[in-house]
Amino acid sequence: MDRIQITGGKQLNGIIPISGAKNAALPLLIASLLTDDRLTLKNVPNLADVNLLVRILRNHGVDLAVDGKRTGPIQHLGETFHLTARDVVDTTAPYEMVSRMRASFWVLGPLIARMGIAKVSLPGGCAIGTRPVDLHLMGLKALGAEIEIEGGYVIAKAPKGLRGAHIVFPKVSVGATHNVLLAAALARGETVIENAAREPEIGDVADCLVKMGARIDGIGTSVLRIQGRERLEGAVHTVLPDRIETGTFAFAVAATGGDVLLEGAKATHLKTALDVLVETGARVEETPRGIRVARTDGGIAPVSVETQPFPGFPTDLQAQLMALVTRAGGTSVIRETIFENRFMHVQELARLGADIHLHGDTATIKGVKTLTGAPVMATDLRASVSLVIAGLMAEGMTTINRVYHLDRGFEQLEQKLTRCGALVERIASG
Ligand code: EPZ
Repeated sequence: MDRIQITGGKQLNGIIPISGAKNAALPLLIASLLTDDRLTLKNVPNLADVNLLVRILRNHGVDLAVDGKRTGPIQHLGETFHLTARDVVDTTAPYEMVSRMRASFWVLGPLIARMGIAKVSLPGGCAIGTRPVDLHLMGLKALGAEIEIEGGYVIAKAPKGLRGAHIVFPKVSVGATHNVLLAAALARGETVIENAAREPEIGDVADCLVKMGARIDGIGTSVLRIQGRERLEGAVHTVLPDRIETGTFAFAVAATGGDVLLEGAKATHLKTALDVLVETGARVEETPRGIRVARTDGGIAPVSVETQPFPGFPTDLQAQLMALVTRAGGTSVIRETIFENRFMHVQELARLGADIHLHGDTATIKGVKTLTGAPVMATDLRASVSLVIAGLMAEGMTTINRVYHLDRGFEQLEQKLTRCGALVERIASG
């Protein structure tokens, strides 16, 4: 298994191009199941999760052609995918695939909506929390799907097709909103989703569905009104920039010091996180080319933050913020309210010398003067990248094992950091 070796202490200076958002690309790829026409997606990031989902979609009968590599110093960024699901040949999403990537469970809604039948494996547990799918099932049942659980699979049927419904989610869920939104686009009549997730990636999928022929009001709000269509058409859509990648590099610059332009990033997609970054002492400037982040003098100020659904502080940046404030000049408090077990990075950050006390859902981080490099590993994507940030700050060498977590969600991470002056090297397994 590959490892990443970081020699810390270098500032980051330069330009980092921001890739297409993983968490928008995945549901957008799934949207291809809704039409027999061609869906063209531009700016698709080259990530392990995207490649895995493509395998799952191919299994359902989706045909994929890839072209249009963007020219420039970093190759393979922003591929164009042409997806055609002329015939859906298999309505089963098997355990071996769904258990490897939870977002593949979101094929359920589109498959029932288009084919009237679907058999999709329950995704199972996850390193960051139990992550049930009750809200997905609740929403799809409201649209008229008959659902049974058998042998670890959700077996869903809607022989007469889905019909619009009024759904009030008791809790905000990104995945349940995606699943129901995708299904509702092919349901008869109007669907209203109340307490819908408002993450920009939901808006991106809704925008794409509108291009495919659905009528959707309330995009970007917590009440989505979808007029379903009997048939959706093909469309051309560009995946929005990755706000979590943006936030990760922004926190990295604040951690090491330096001055970096996050090219193509959109400040409105991560306003709360940028506000927190400014509180820590970094300078943040919105420019026509992207977001410029700098910390050229002064230290890191402590903060008190709690994760919340969008527009609050994202859980997907919690670990990265924690890495940053390990060296703050004071004590920070971070409360994780979305996932019950998203603190796996804490013990690893402690291996580098961080002083973190965990109590229930709250971490208290006493800033230390220095971190010292060490071998570490993490069990999920965002936790892994928080160790990269810590490694960039630490004295000496940090080796991060289990790099495949990073490859799931960060496109060309080492190259992007190296070009800004970091000493980062991938050591391929022998
Ligand atoms: C999405 O996961 C993201 N994944 C996650 O990013 C992100 O952390 C999360 O949203 C929250 O922002 C993708 O977009 C592919 P949820 P999702 O349903 O949809 C509970 C990353 O690193 N819940 O919004 O699975 C759930 O347990 C990943 O890129 C139910 O109770 O998250 C959690 O406590 C990690 N029942 C809360 O809701 C349900 O049926 C929010 O989860 C569904 C969810």
